[in-house]
Amino acid sequence: MLLLVVILIGYLLGSISFSYLIAKKIKKVDIRQHGSGNAGATNTLRVLGIGPAISVLALDIVKGIIAVWIGILLASDQSGVFPALAGLAAILGHNWPVYYGFRGGKGVATTIGVIATLVFFPALFAGIIAIISIVLTRYVSLGSLLFALLTPAFAYLLMETYQIPQMYIILSILVAVLSFWRHRTNIQRLLTGTESKIGKKKEAS
Ligand code: G3P
Repeated sequence: MLLLVVILIGYLLGSISFSYLIAKKIKKVDIRQHGSGNAGATNTLRVLGIGPAISVLALDIVKGIIAVWIGILLASDQSGVFPALAGLAAILGHNWPVYYGFRGGKGVATTIGVIATLVFFPALFAGIIAIISIVLTRYVSLGSLLFALLTPAFAYLLMETYQIPQMYIILSILVAVLSFWRHRTNIQRLLTGTESKIGKKKEAS
């Protein structure tokens, strides 16, 4: 019963879409009707600029962290099931938010918050590679996919070094599969060279 409560809290927390709320507040628009149509930090960058995008990124990360900590604090055992499922529920809430017709984002920032809380060093190493790839290519989606893919790989490799519970490895694999599914249109565009880049400078006329 307590586990269900933790999952529900995680889901309701994850359902708070900061990109939706901030876009409504600043520009009176539905972020899902603009740019890529995704309710996330990258699309906030496109539609509203760097300041609001950083706010969205930070807040979406924080809600993932809070969800996991609720799981940790209310856990009735040491298996890691409570924090893992609370974090997963927050990501699901972000992607399919109950408050906004179940149309949300791709879960990247919330995943960062969840995964970095559960498996800090694997997330850090994957995050560094992801950031380098974004700086070099300017494809945020590629960085997001690399982060999703590399976190379980690092978590598995560093399992004994950092005493990572099996549950967290399973969760990071699940989250990676979910992330690839949510990015399927981005993957198609990356493969066809039509994915949009961030910070694209306007050519001089
Ligand atoms: O934050 C999600 C990112 O990986 C891709 O977003 O708007 O380019 O589809 P977007």
